[in-house]
Amino acid sequence: MIRARILGVGRYLPERVVTNFDLAKMFDTSDEWIQQRTGIVERRFADEGVYCSDLAAHASRQAIQNAGLQLEDIDFLIFATLSPDHHFPGSGVYLQAKLGLSEIGCLDVRNQCTGFLYGLAVADAFVRAGVYKRVLLVGAEVHSSALNFTNAGRDVAVLFGDGAGAVVVGPSEDESRGILTTHLHADGRYAEILKLDIWDISKKPYITETSLTNGDIWPKMIGKEVFKHAVTKIPEVIEAVLKENNLKTTDIDLYIPHQANLRINQFAAHRLGVPQEKFYSNIEAYGNTTAASIPIALSEILEKKIISENNLIVMVSFGSGFTWAASLIRW
Ligand code: ACO
Repeated sequence: MIRARILGVGRYLPERVVTNFDLAKMFDTSDEWIQQRTGIVERRFADEGVYCSDLAAHASRQAIQNAGLQLEDIDFLIFATLSPDHHFPGSGVYLQAKLGLSEIGCLDVRNQCTGFLYGLAVADAFVRAGVYKRVLLVGAEVHSSALNFTNAGRDVAVLFGDGAGAVVVGPSEDESRGILTTHLHADGRYAEILKLDIWDISKKPYITETSLTNGDIWPKMIGKEVFKHAVTKIPEVIEAVLKENNLKTTDIDLYIPHQANLRINQFAAHRLGVPQEKFYSNIEAYGNTTAASIPIALSEILEKKIISENNLIVMVSFGSGFTWAASLIRW
């Protein structure tokens, strides 16, 4: 059996920095409230006119270059996002055209914060089965267009930022290195806890005057429920991945959790008995970039040389759906 591994990584963050103090000028909040509850200090927002696929294109070019490949080497594309350019067609085809890729298949993944790990599982399966050889997987978000910057939306608006991260997945020349396992989960009974109502195909037409004025254009979240489930499911799925591979928490060199809330990741690390410094964090700089957060973090980690060949890493995520997942990689 061929093993798949990540051949290259890239990231792109829009230049515009928006601090907690900037948000406090728009609605009633404070740097102290946001930092205490989330760990976020600032985030990046894309300018008007910028699409999710634009951010993705920057990150993708960097990932392909980092893998030592050319655009024409890519034979499949997976795009994970909850903020697609348009409802349809998928953002993957926009990215394909922007990169000038040939007529390769493009798959959109709509699994919110877990989108990157779902995409990684698909890329891994394709490569291992020999279906495709070089899969470009990108997670990208433009959240800033869909946040309610008034008191009514402040619980959600402070959390999110824009950005993109990308990887190229391909065959590993060394069978012991690469993606060892990915566990994917979902529980649709909690779909209503964190969602965007505006697009409702049961309505005729699917967007009504009322839905435009009653706040349905903004995401809705029961934050405490998300928190409660996240701190349970994140340790649970990590333990399952470790058990399957006969590993202990101490065998892992670095955990790369989705960056939703520093407190969630601190709770999860504490429950596992893992030192906080083994749970990578960059939420202070970018906020929650949903499908982009894990590849952005990975790109930084490699740049800072925090991990090296043969290190064991666990990537883990939890988010809207609810969906959650973990992936074990020998780098
Ligand atoms: N600034 C100041 N005060 C605020 C803000 C704000 N931005 N937002 C809410 N408040 C107020 C509330 O109105 C409330 O006031 P009250 O006590 O007078 O009613 C008070 O602060 C406490 O509100 P809570 O909602 O109870 O605050 P909590 O401690 O639960 O923290 C938070 C809220 C940070 C959102 C937390 O619940 C959380 O992080 N949950 C997880 C969210 C998450 O990770 N979401 C992303 C999932 S990923 C994905 O799939 C997209």
